[in-house]
Amino acid sequence: MPLATPELPHRDRHREAVIRVRGLEVGFGERTIMKGLDLDVYRGEILGFVGASGTGKSVLTRAILGLVPKRAGTIEVFGENVDGLSPASRRAIERRWGVLFQFGALFSALTVKENVQVPMREYLHLSDRLLDELAMLKIEMVGLNPDAADKLPSELSGGMIKRAALARALALDPEILFLDEPTSGLDPIGAGEFDDLIATLQRTLGLTVFMVTHDLDSLHTVCDRIAALGEGRIIAAGTIDTMLKSDHPWLKAYFRGKRARGVMTANEA
Ligand SMILES: Nc1ncnc2c1ncn2[C@@H]1O[C@H](COP(=O)(O)OP(=O)(O)OP(=O)(O)O)[C@@H](O)[C@H]1O
Ligand SMILES: [Mg+2]
Repeated sequence: MPLATPELPHRDRHREAVIRVRGLEVGFGERTIMKGLDLDVYRGEILGFVGASGTGKSVLTRAILGLVPKRAGTIEVFGENVDGLSPASRRAIERRWGVLFQFGALFSALTVKENVQVPMREYLHLSDRLLDELAMLKIEMVGLNPDAADKLPSELSGGMIKRAALARALALDPEILFLDEPTSGLDPIGAGEFDDLIATLQRTLGLTVFMVTHDLDSLHTVCDRIAALGEGRIIAAGTIDTMLKSDHPWLKAYFRGKRARGVMTANEA
């Protein structure tokens, strides 16, 4: 067995890529947002996805979810090429992921419990009693008080809305959880608590987490690996150490710039 190279850590070659993107091109009209983009997301990892605002992090997420069309390339999820799937196979895959969109508001006219039950009603055929029990389980799982269940989104704080949206994303016991900037708008303590929650859920449920984030604390504390988007492709992927050592100007500015954590601490970690 050859020795592992730093570019391709030993474990990566043996890990199952639950998402495999190759040569992806996405654009709108005259504009190309990404081209020749390759990305693997491994089972059981928390992948932090970074990049300057407007580089296409949300577009990539939506392209993987099949919500924006691609111009070229392949996307495999759970080993299946998502192109040309029958509607039934497509639904089967969609049932295995949960999504918390960047501006993914809850349905404002529905209570938290009803919001959590939306995907359940779409995919499962269960009695109302069972749906209620399942929804309460998800609501407690994300650390919300049971009495939040009957509240409307307008009656919740920003942090509670994020948790309720997470409960909805977990409604169908997904294997992959997509989170687009889940901690934006939260104060640092709220963001830290949300990160801890994600890490705990990842461990206990064995989730794979694809998390777009600008939050350096999240990247340092909960992400197993980080991928950075720039110039329409992945400019670097690896551990936080890889990012800290990168000479790429944007990565340097982001991870070692004024707003970054102390480089000393990061190097010592
Ligand atoms: N449906 C669309 N039609 C046309 N252009 C779009 C569409 N969706 C996104 N874009 C453009 O694609 C680019 C990437 O957008 P995207 O939302 O993916 O950025 P982002 O990296 O998620 O940024 P942020 O960090 O601010 O969330 C932007 O210039 C945006 O205006
Ligand atoms: Mg975005």
